Amino acid sequence: MTARDLVDPFGRTIRDLRISVTDRCNFRCTYCMPAEGMVWLPKSEILSFEEIERVARLFVERYGVDGIRLTGGEPTVRAHLPVLVAKLATLVVPADSASPLAGQPIDLALTTNGATLVNCVDELRDAGLGRINISLDTLDREKFERMTRRDELERVLAGIDAACAAGLSSVKINAVVERGANDDEILDLAEFGRAKGVEVRFIEFMPLDAEGHWVNDKVVSQDEIVARIAAVHPLESVPARGAAPADRWRYLDGRGTVGVIPSVTKPFCGDCDRVRLTADGQFRTCLFATTEFDLRTRLRDGSSDDVVAAEIERAVGTKWAGHQINQVNFIRPKRTMSQIGG
Ligand code: GTP
Ligand code: 5AD
Ligand code: SF4
Repeated sequence: MTARDLVDPFGRTIRDLRISVTDRCNFRCTYCMPAEGMVWLPKSEILSFEEIERVARLFVERYGVDGIRLTGGEPTVRAHLPVLVAKLATLVVPADSASPLAGQPIDLALTTNGATLVNCVDELRDAGLGRINISLDTLDREKFERMTRRDELERVLAGIDAACAAGLSSVKINAVVERGANDDEILDLAEFGRAKGVEVRFIEFMPLDAEGHWVNDKVVSQDEIVARIAAVHPLESVPARGAAPADRWRYLDGRGTVGVIPSVTKPFCGDCDRVRLTADGQFRTCLFATTEFDLRTRLRDGSSDDVVAAEIERAVGTKWAGHQINQVNFIRPKRTMSQIGG
């Protein structure tokens, strides 16, 4: 079969599939989950590795999707994750695809809170994982406990070191900035990244927290984040971000790069090439989508790949131009970030 592009109604080609492998998490970050009372999906509703692999293969081989990112909840709490990584690492972008990775293995990545990496990063690398993004919002133990509701800063720092030592092709740090919670640490986190030789990406706080405490005043804008860093460490912009959500800057002293993901103040929806599969097999064409397409039923009722693909094409045909955060018609998705998969 020859690959053909999956193009949405706004002309954007889908290249990136984000797969949530579990809704569970060992943390309870305030910007994502409530302290208590999350109701977990029953195991029977979670896609098996075979089901995930089938969908992933279809996206790569039929549509030339060239990047897969595993997310959660916290993806490493899913038992035997390296088994899934090994299956997905065998996928090759079709040689006749228009992707820059045509003929090569897919770009396989993981987004994690880092707390378990000391134990599993080598196994994940051996299974074929290429890149890891690790969340770290503060370097202060008490603040870490306030923001994640877990006293795990030391384990996460050790996890970052383990990931850096594992020889992956890229390790990055994600820091959600929330005014009044950790915005006083922007410079410290940037300097931490410089010292470790990893790119820190600051993320504007988005209205996806479970408790609905997001208000616009808690968003620290990209302009403010960059100004605070550049006041101490001069920066120059790195052009051409393509479909990636982060804008990037280079330190003028040559010691690394830093990014900002400006979902609220400078939405990047116009270049979005992403679609998502939730842990329970629901297909979403946007982080903020209010409609889901039930692939799990198709995967379990004996439907052929053609039928599953037709449902995917129907869904992509509804991908909207972008979210409307801060506009009167913005509707919060019913699911939280942990259930959608970040
Ligand atoms: P790279 O390929 O390394 O650039 O990964 P990534 O930044 O796409 O993935 P990661 O999981 O590290 O995402 C970091 C953050 O980007 C997420 O936590 C979200 O806050 C944000 N993000 C990812 N995808 C989207 C999206 O489709 N829309 C918006 N608004 N934000 C997104
Ligand atoms: N706003 C922005 N980013 C968020 N994340 C979780 N909740 C939010 C939110 N409300 C990010 C985490 C991690 C990824 C899984 O999602 O920091 O990088
Ligand atoms: Fe867990 Fe990630 Fe949500 Fe934090 S942001 S509670 S680590 S899923």
